[in-house]
Amino acid sequence: MNTLDLQSRIDSFPVWHYQFDLDGARTPIFEPDYVNRHEQRKRAFFDPLVRVAGGSLEGKAVLDLGSNAGYWSLAAIEAGADFVLGIDGRQMHVDQANLVFEAKGIDAARYRFETGDIFTHSFPEHFDVILCLGLMYHISKPMELFEVMASVGPELLLIDTAVSLIPSSVFRVAHEDSLENPRNAIDHEVVLIPSRQAVLDLAAQFGFRGAVLAHDISDYTGMPDYRAKQRAAFLCSKTLSLDSVERERTDTATLMRAAVKKFAQRQVLRTRRKVGLA
Ligand SMILES: C[S@@+](CC[C@H](N)C(=O)[O-])C[C@H]1O[C@@H](n2cnc3c(N)ncnc32)[C@H](O)[C@@H]1O
Repeated sequence: MNTLDLQSRIDSFPVWHYQFDLDGARTPIFEPDYVNRHEQRKRAFFDPLVRVAGGSLEGKAVLDLGSNAGYWSLAAIEAGADFVLGIDGRQMHVDQANLVFEAKGIDAARYRFETGDIFTHSFPEHFDVILCLGLMYHISKPMELFEVMASVGPELLLIDTAVSLIPSSVFRVAHEDSLENPRNAIDHEVVLIPSRQAVLDLAAQFGFRGAVLAHDISDYTGMPDYRAKQRAAFLCSKTLSLDSVERERTDTATLMRAAVKKFAQRQVLRTRRKVGLA
């Protein structure tokens, strides 16, 4: 594929959520601050995953849930994974991921992208590692999510999600702005946002020990949710030691203060909307 053909295929998509440099062409990211966001996310939770796996994903089969344009699937391949299956509910994202992998020259035997709803899709293979990034807060079936993940027999789960600030084990009912937004849910606008403890409890129900990862973030540009502790990443394993993992040190009082502040902000916003000021 020459650069002009590649650029015209890139431009045929209405939106890209990542900036990929592809053989002289570049995908136009929808929000420039997200270049930093994705680099920082990689350092904050993907690199610790690779370290816990022994320094590489060599020999591993990886399942990437809500794979979008294949950014994390590519990270898995670059970390040495033997094979990655990415699944996304939107055909556009599967087409983007296939284009990215083709342009990167990844051996076609090492990956597959499929369109489907993770809750109804069949996963006949075994996977060693599951990436569940930016997905859990877009769904309304958290227990089923863990059933799906546990069913493919992984030794490692990496979960990155928006979280409720409540320190106990709860889910906050939230509303997606619109199902038309290609980053959102594919079924219900009402979604359940877990607290940190809720994620750990669900993981434990399926036999996984979990750690909330420390934020190794040097620049919070494009990451106000991480800065406000409303987003967290979890590394979970049944068999591997998580002792070397640097854990988040957020105490109950800090979380409660942040929760009260957030609650007040939401009330102000609701009132402004009611009186037509927002
Ligand atoms: C916010 S994006 C996250 C993308 C990527 N994993 C990341 O963390 O950067 C959520 C993705 O999950 C997909 N998605 C949402 N619900 C899904 C479902 N039930 N089954 C499959 N994909 C889904 C969306 O189409 C979207 O591409």
